[in-house]
Amino acid sequence: MGNPEIDRINELKRSAAERAVEFVNSGMILGLGTGSTAVFAMNRLGELLVRGELTDIIAIPTSKETERIAWRNGIPLTTLRDHPVIDLTIDGADEIDPDLNLIKGGGGALLREKIVAEASRQVIIIADDSKTSDKLGTKWVVPVEVIPFGMRPVAEYIVSLGAKVEVREMSEGKPFRTDEGNHILDCRFGPIDNPAELAEKLSVKAGIVEHGLFLGIASDVIIAGMDGIKHLKKNNG
Ligand code: A5P
Repeated sequence: MGNPEIDRINELKRSAAERAVEFVNSGMILGLGTGSTAVFAMNRLGELLVRGELTDIIAIPTSKETERIAWRNGIPLTTLRDHPVIDLTIDGADEIDPDLNLIKGGGGALLREKIVAEASRQVIIIADDSKTSDKLGTKWVVPVEVIPFGMRPVAEYIVSLGAKVEVREMSEGKPFRTDEGNHILDCRFGPIDNPAELAEKLSVKAGIVEHGLFLGIASDVIIAGMDGIKHLKKNNG
């Protein structure tokens, strides 16, 4: 028997994802996000391709895992080298604030996700309504991708910024490796009063490859809750 709460959340993720896919047109270059919500979008894209309701789309995946799921769904893939400008990226998030700022990287794909999002004309974030909060950091840690060589001093630097820092581990107790071979520090700041200031402090430290604060990057956020779907847009609510 399934877990009704998980089924309910999956249903919300699916409806947010399917609403976002309505913005995909034939001929588009797409960015494909990583995570369980993005999987629903890829499944929907696969259905529309099979039915011939979408044609000529080509996509750039944000992780090796997404690449596998896209192939399974028959979504043709390309690279940023061949297509450096993306029409539309659809991706999930871990936490979303009222200004459409995000924490991402729960799946460890933050670096490629940020590169793809920044190369996109439009970024639609899809989520169930458990992901919203008034201040980033309230519900989720900030993932920080670090090169293994610098992990210890970088961790001490982030502690000095006020976070409790944990090295993300894989199941067998070894440090998690990103698709780029780096490690992730999960940094618990608690509610963050000034995300831009924190992002700046993280960006200037050598050894930090990228952090999971996605500020001003989402153009749209589609949030599904029991009371329906909300479509929030940057700058005009
Ligand atoms: C992947 O690195 C993340 O940024 C995901 O987009 C985020 O963790 C959302 O994942 P779910 O859709 O599985 O909640």
